[in-house]
Amino acid sequence: MSLESNNGISIQKVETSKIASVDFENLKFGSVFTDHMLVCHYKDGKWGQVEIKPYGPMSFAPSTNVFHYGQAIFEGMKAYKDANEDVWLFRPRENWARFNKSAERMAMPHIDEERFVDGLKALINLDRDWVKQGEGNALYIRPFMIGTHEGVVAGPSSEFMFCIICSPARTYYSGKVKVQIAEHYSRAANGGVGYTKCSGNYAGQFYPTKLAQEAGYQQVIWTDDATHTKLEEAGTMNVFFRIGDTLITAPTSERILDGVTRKSLLDIAKSKGINVEVKSIVVQDLIDAHAKGELKEIFGAGTAVTVGQIEGFAFQEKYYQLPEVSDDNSFAIQLKTGLQGIQQKKIEDTFGWTEKI
Ligand code: COI
Repeated sequence: MSLESNNGISIQKVETSKIASVDFENLKFGSVFTDHMLVCHYKDGKWGQVEIKPYGPMSFAPSTNVFHYGQAIFEGMKAYKDANEDVWLFRPRENWARFNKSAERMAMPHIDEERFVDGLKALINLDRDWVKQGEGNALYIRPFMIGTHEGVVAGPSSEFMFCIICSPARTYYSGKVKVQIAEHYSRAANGGVGYTKCSGNYAGQFYPTKLAQEAGYQQVIWTDDATHTKLEEAGTMNVFFRIGDTLITAPTSERILDGVTRKSLLDIAKSKGINVEVKSIVVQDLIDAHAKGELKEIFGAGTAVTVGQIEGFAFQEKYYQLPEVSDDNSFAIQLKTGLQGIQQKKIEDTFGWTEKI
């Protein structure tokens, strides 16, 4: 292994890359990781040196905070390679800012922009061969932080580890999905942690999603915890509805994640002259619009999936199939193409969202 130093970042490279053994045509999302990872520890009230080292197992005491109290947060981001072999990040500072919002809510320390963004750039630069060109190809980036203090006292950790791992990815879901609207379970509540990317937010979805899958649906559309009428998120994504020619999504709140893909799609939609409304939408609005033939599309939006089309929804034991919309007439497809075009540098980035590595 060779050890280098770059702007205060220590870099320990693998001797032999494992890239030749990876089948990039048949990647299962999030199952293959690049050669290196970034690690930085927080102790005695401050962050230490950023280290880039070979991706591999870590060792923690069984009493470590994260195993018992789940003091853990993460982000999801992507890097893309353009036709000139340049590698680009998409709005990385938005993820950095949201990471710190999650950290605040989970009683964890903020991390500075240099360690997060510059560290990430150094990591991706080292593993840049893992970022593949072409439609649907990206490097999925997973920054996360865990409480590493040893001891089972139920309180915030005093020590933390920040880490970034990267996984070559193609699209997250293949094809359209059927969803079930939540009538009993909730993903978030006012005053809770719904707007953060804390790990428990996702673990709490596993059981209701498993029940929905057993009933024949792939995902759940989450409703507000108090009335189960307001449509808030879909699975691990923000959710959009097209009624007539208006695109509608719920406003962000304490219960709804401020998705980077969500806000980018809203800006792209406006730039294309699509009528956009950010407002609360209830299940009955959806059922009424469906009855009138005005409900044309529902889709989820998130980093992993980009845009995930929904073919129909179930509510109170009844299934509502959405009409077929051709790709040329689909808001989901137009917005996905617009977003991916910017991300992959095929369309001019007039918004200034992309950052070269
Ligand atoms: C993302 O879209 O990046 C997410 O964080 C969702 C994840 C659970 C795959």
